Amino acid sequence: MKKRVRAIGLALAALMSVSMLAGCAGSAEEKDNRQIIRIGHNQSTNHPTHIALEAFEEFIESELGEKYNVEVYPSELLGSQNEMVQLTQTGAITFCVASNSLLETFSDSYTLFNLPYLFSSSEAYHASMDDTSITDPIFKSTEKAGFEAVTWLDAGTRNFYTVNTPIESPSDLKGLKIRVQQSPTNVEMMRLLGGSATPMGFGDVYTALQAKIIDGAENNEMALTDNGHGDVCKYYSYDMHQMIPDILIANESFLQALSNEERAIFEEGFQLVNQVQREEWVTAVEKAKERAQNEQGVTFLYPDTKPFQEICEPMHQSMLQQHPDLQPIYDAIQKYNEQYASAES
Ligand code: GCU
Repeated sequence: MKKRVRAIGLALAALMSVSMLAGCAGSAEEKDNRQIIRIGHNQSTNHPTHIALEAFEEFIESELGEKYNVEVYPSELLGSQNEMVQLTQTGAITFCVASNSLLETFSDSYTLFNLPYLFSSSEAYHASMDDTSITDPIFKSTEKAGFEAVTWLDAGTRNFYTVNTPIESPSDLKGLKIRVQQSPTNVEMMRLLGGSATPMGFGDVYTALQAKIIDGAENNEMALTDNGHGDVCKYYSYDMHQMIPDILIANESFLQALSNEERAIFEEGFQLVNQVQREEWVTAVEKAKERAQNEQGVTFLYPDTKPFQEICEPMHQSMLQQHPDLQPIYDAIQKYNEQYASAES
């Protein structure tokens, strides 16, 4: 992995010198002295995350365009999420979007939002993530590691999907190789549910499915259409195991160097990312489901989620035993779970 990060570092250096050359091509007056803000993510340009970051680019450039030039790089152009987090840590890039899953390897506090069946409904999930007394201690836990979370993005609900095995109950996962995100919580969840966890980066999943290296994966509905997984996987099963947010993280030194006025504008920009992404998300998921069903021939299944949930439940207690400092935040989430109990319970 280090080698790849170094390779991406070199590619970035080349990219920077090309932008500098382009800057030098004109007359001295035309020289662009603006600071470049590079933002990387791993979704396509159709994805709500990209649309929201484009809105951020437009907003920052309209407010502070003389000083900053914002560039958004989609589709893992700057590396996998793991690599982008490391590039953000060092300041080689300024921002990236990372799944909360991956962040648990950078700070234990992030483990909390990765727990299966942590939230009782999407309303409870949204209310918890909008409550800064819940998110702040977690978002700021990586300051010393060189980055900080500045807002969260919706990534829906994660469910299992497979090439040709309908998952109606946990026993159907037995013996199946299922791609999970690279996080100890996800590996443990798969172990408990009886499948064989195959951790890998998001960009490698399509090829692994096609090559039958894995039998399935787990994600929201967008992965079927936007990433083509529904071309290979014909069963998508709503077991609802996780609601894992995506997180926009920023290089810490960049944030600290901003003046108070600039920081206020950037904060407004972060809110805009959150708002635009969540608005876009609702229709994007509806369209993805419709396309997967009608054009890709994916069958959607609605199993009883209780057996899945019961198997995963011990993970909550063991997480709290290992990280007692997270208990008050966990309890605050339970209050939202009671307030916004799922329609089924
Ligand atoms: C979702 C999520 C991404 C993540 C991906 C994955 O698409 O939005 O941030 O990388 O799942 O499964 O890796």
